[in-house]
Amino acid sequence: MTTVNDCRLLDLPRIVREEGSITPIEGGKHVPFEIARVYYLYDVPGGSSRGGHAHKQLLQLMVAVMGSFDVVLDDGYTRRRVSLNRGYYGLYLPNLIWRELENFSSGAICVVLASQPYQESEYIREYSNFIHYKKSVAQTVR
Ligand code: TYD
Repeated sequence: MTTVNDCRLLDLPRIVREEGSITPIEGGKHVPFEIARVYYLYDVPGGSSRGGHAHKQLLQLMVAVMGSFDVVLDDGYTRRRVSLNRGYYGLYLPNLIWRELENFSSGAICVVLASQPYQESEYIREYSNFIHYKKSVAQTVR
């Protein structure tokens, strides 16, 4: 069963030049999954929050390529807050972790790399359903 300790901050490659820096990310190499989808959150009003869901199977990597925000992680037992504010740190999120994104700085951009195409049936959008689902999966695994 995944826990907040499985959510790791990955060091991404940095190519630093006077004319600007580059951070390349290759699926299966710099992130522990093949990348099927990329999306980004932007135009988020400063100080606001979003998220509030978990995924049944989806694996993700989140990067603050501009500005900063906090990711509040919850595995049903433990909560952990991770602040992202650099384009060369990626937060790896395994499946079945409840997450909320908070404290967006104005102009922040969050890039998300995901292991699967978008599928609404993959989301768990109610916290009580998340706890229930997580317990039922734990019983199946045992
Ligand atoms: P959602 O993931 O719920 O964003 P948040 O929880 O941060 O508010 O997505 C918001 C809407 O965007 C939802 O109606 C589904 C749609 N969406 C897509 O169509 N494709 C995608 O890849 C994503 C991430 C969202």
